[in-house]
Amino acid sequence: MRVLSGIQSSGKLHLGNYLGALKQHIELHRDHECFYFIANYHALTTVQDADRQRELTRDVALDYLALGLDPNKAALFRQTDVPEVCELAWILSTVTGRGLLERAHSYKDKIAKGVAPSMGLMSYPLLMAADILIYDSDLVPVGKDQVQHIEMTQDMAGYFNNAYGVEVLKRPEARLNQAYTVPGIDGQKMSKTYGNTVDLFDTPKKARKRIMAIKTDSTPVEDPKDPDACNVFAILRLMASPEETEEMAAAYRGGGLGYGTVKKRLAELYEEQFGAARERRAQLEADSDYVEDALIDGAKRARAVATKVMARVRDACGLVTVRS
Ligand code: AMP
Ligand code: TRP
Repeated sequence: MRVLSGIQSSGKLHLGNYLGALKQHIELHRDHECFYFIANYHALTTVQDADRQRELTRDVALDYLALGLDPNKAALFRQTDVPEVCELAWILSTVTGRGLLERAHSYKDKIAKGVAPSMGLMSYPLLMAADILIYDSDLVPVGKDQVQHIEMTQDMAGYFNNAYGVEVLKRPEARLNQAYTVPGIDGQKMSKTYGNTVDLFDTPKKARKRIMAIKTDSTPVEDPKDPDACNVFAILRLMASPEETEEMAAAYRGGGLGYGTVKKRLAELYEEQFGAARERRAQLEADSDYVEDALIDGAKRARAVATKVMARVRDACGLVTVRS
């Protein structure tokens, strides 16, 4: 089974990215063949500054490696190192109706938040489908906001196979974990574009400040509280053990527990879970060859698969591949 996923290099990674996506990526790479890439072509829809793009691309690689991804096991690479995805995106665009893209929630959300409605943003799902289909991927671990894009990918694989009467493209499945939508400090979905994130690699002081700023209601300390209606608890349950989560839920219901106490515990869990990774990240940052070599090696492995699938696709369409 081949697992594939991508993360855009469009900002610093946050707890939503980790709990919803990266955590599954790292778990899955222990027992499966995994391809993970930095979606820097996609990031151009929002970041149009070359220095910043270079920095953010490297940041995502560092984050993965610091969090425990072994680049000898999973192929970690830059999307742009397999430029064939752009060719496949074009081919998919010729079999996909405009209506499908017009229904994309993510496109509508981004425009509502002020992202420029470029053709790139509109065709974002075509490139994402190409990213997935070009590696014959079986499983795509993502957060809930990406599920529609994966359903569109399944549709596009079908459109292509039907148009040419051959089963060339493999239909992938999405994989969600329990953290399918992590709330931000204001209670909306945690997102770079909302400015409501707790970043993964903030200094302990800054992270604590963000955690202490999570919005809660004004129920007095003594009163019973509903754990299922609290943003702090929603994040805590994704980071604490099941036993601690149970105890905390009981304490909410019993009354006498202040939100401040829960926030402090969440800040501790953050430090327990990311403290060591922060140190590892600082060491890796000083070893730029290691990071670059890992990305180049990952791209080689990924590209070997992509060129084979593209040869199949071209052949199915009657496009001639010149073999060198
Ligand atoms: P992006 O930063 O948009 O490239 O997202 C990278 C991955 O993180 C995708 O799989 C998203 O679904 C996931 N993700 C982003 N924000 C959240 C969130 N608030 N909760 C759960 N998953 C998320
Ligand atoms: N659109 C994804 C996001 O914003 C990133 C992405 C690009 C992706 N290509 C992909 C995720 C392919 C999974 C598979 O999170």
